[in-house]
Amino acid sequence: MSIISKDISKAIALLNTEDIVAIPTETVYGLAGNIYSEKAIKSIFETKKRPFFNPLIVHIPSIDQLPNIVAYIPKKAQLLAEAFWPGPITLVLKKQDTIPDLITGGKDTVAVRVPNHPTILELLNQLDFPLAAPSANPFSSISPTTAAHVETYFKDSIKMVLDGGHCTSGIESTIIGFENDEPIIYRLGSTALEDIEAVVGKIEIKNTVKSQIADIPNAPGMLARHYAPKTKTILTNNVFEAVKLQKEKRIGVLVFKTKIESPNISSQIILSEKGEMPEAASHLYDALHQLDKQDLDIIITEEFPDFGLGKSINDRLTRATKN
Ligand code: TXA
Ligand code: MG
Repeated sequence: MSIISKDISKAIALLNTEDIVAIPTETVYGLAGNIYSEKAIKSIFETKKRPFFNPLIVHIPSIDQLPNIVAYIPKKAQLLAEAFWPGPITLVLKKQDTIPDLITGGKDTVAVRVPNHPTILELLNQLDFPLAAPSANPFSSISPTTAAHVETYFKDSIKMVLDGGHCTSGIESTIIGFENDEPIIYRLGSTALEDIEAVVGKIEIKNTVKSQIADIPNAPGMLARHYAPKTKTILTNNVFEAVKLQKEKRIGVLVFKTKIESPNISSQIILSEKGEMPEAASHLYDALHQLDKQDLDIIITEEFPDFGLGKSINDRLTRATKN
């Protein structure tokens, strides 16, 4: 029997009894539980096989609740929250004493956001507690953007996926931390860098795949290999040449807007024929899920133009193709 359901009252009943539920957001599906329930939070980590040092994002229904979660709000954090919430920006700020260490991996900061999806907002408004929710995928595999993706991963380990349709943004939130009150990007994501800079000015990025190899990443979502298909996957700026060079038999191809003409391609997905990056981002993970199911020998993915959401998509593709 399917665990996918649109029944919000059932989700509320499960969450109120310290169980976990997969929930839709505008970015990706999350695996949610009461932030104050040790049982629920442990169960999230165990279900995902996620290491305990990797902290979770707290989801609240409105900016009014931010002072319950964080002890201090720098001016630029307030500006970002007002500009983008509800929406795909996560702020990492000094935590309130009441936020359990299990949520923050023992750090004195907490990640928090107001998601922009009617189903989770309705859910949060009906609960007496915020929800901790990492993406609803096993550690380091492709994030889910449909209820069916989550069901495939977790049908034997969770009771319910609350169905909210296809996630419209399609890649995770942009994570912003603060050092000396100045914002720093820890993870590129669904809010484009340029849109953030329009609000707070030039901003440093600390999550590039290159820069995080030496030290322990601030946001393990920036671990070098992440968001990865099981099939061998490569990233190139010249798909046509890469296909020609391939000796593998069954080749899958993932391109931005222009179809590659070659008899050697077994399966090809075009992310946005109109060449629109938001549309491409919203289809990215679903396309990877689809290609990964087809018993291909290799998936060749195309590098995006390095601006706007293209930067965030390149970040995910780079991690998906790391060995
Ligand atoms: O769009 C999203 O952000 C989705 C939806 C479900 O909200 N959630 C998501 O969660 O992507 P997750 O757990 O897959 O990624 C959260 C990232 C992790 O890389 C984690 O290390 C980082 O946020 N993070 C959480 N708390 C942090 C903290 N206190 N300091 C630095 N990074 C933190
Ligand atoms: Mg994740």
